[in-house]
Amino acid sequence: MKIGIVGTGMVGSSAAFAMALRGTASEIVLVDRNADLASAHAQDISHAVPFARAVTVRAGDYADLAGARIVVLAAGVGQKPGETRLALLGRNAAVFRQVVEQLMPVVPDALFLIASNPVDLMTYAVRRFSGLPASRVIGSGTILDTARFRVLVGEHLGIAPRSVHAYVLGEHGDSEVAVWSSAMAGNVPLEAFAAQTGRTLTADKRAEISDAVRNAAYTIISGKGSTYYGIGAGLARIAEAIGADERAVLSVSTVTADVEGIEDVPLSLPRIVGAEGVTAELRPDLDADERAALRKSAETIAALKPAIDE
Ligand code: LAC
Repeated sequence: MKIGIVGTGMVGSSAAFAMALRGTASEIVLVDRNADLASAHAQDISHAVPFARAVTVRAGDYADLAGARIVVLAAGVGQKPGETRLALLGRNAAVFRQVVEQLMPVVPDALFLIASNPVDLMTYAVRRFSGLPASRVIGSGTILDTARFRVLVGEHLGIAPRSVHAYVLGEHGDSEVAVWSSAMAGNVPLEAFAAQTGRTLTADKRAEISDAVRNAAYTIISGKGSTYYGIGAGLARIAEAIGADERAVLSVSTVTADVEGIEDVPLSLPRIVGAEGVTAELRPDLDADERAALRKSAETIAALKPAIDE
């Protein structure tokens, strides 16, 4: 499978590296307005191939993306310390308008995987600018938040993150919703797990974990300037579900017809991801607080759609 990555900053290049190591693609083409940067990343990642899977990694321009099954959009600016993702909207929407304009003639049949923030609104922007069906315009959404949620719950319960079945929904951002009411340890609800193992999750601990997930990026950015390994691996995971027609349930962002009465809003729900992109979305049971929080998240995102519609 051929994958293109537009924008080879830390997120795009980390995604390329993760895909190379995991054998996600047979060919990865890196495109950046800084051609020297794209070329240097391509060379550097190529030197890891002898330790990884067979993959051709090269730099190119938009024409070199022809035939790509997936194009990752990671161009634009990232958060500065303390800056919200939503604050990036104007600058990155302008970048994306140009990127999509150059992509459509070359890869009209590709699946677009959006990484740049604010990722939900960038997903909405690509949907509008490209005219592609929502199923083929997928934002990484809360796949990383869900991973962070599972890591922290797993650490507290003493089980592997992959054995924590829990999701973060809504905005990939400050209004996201960690869904505790349906969280499971293996196939056991958290309350039953606590009764059997003595490992409880008090209301205070749950709030502490939810806050740590919501603020993880701010914490990492304050320490090293940006985040990239987690999101890079998350992008590789989504690409693998597409490449293998896995029909994996992943919390990714697409333009959603209706969320708690808010229409046409891009946000994350658990969705089935396979060769055709998103083929179904799942509506988990939510308690009253979670439903109210998801509606608030949808309202937060929907309020900024006009910045793209204009
Ligand atoms: C983060 C970036 C990818 O949450 O938004 O790390």
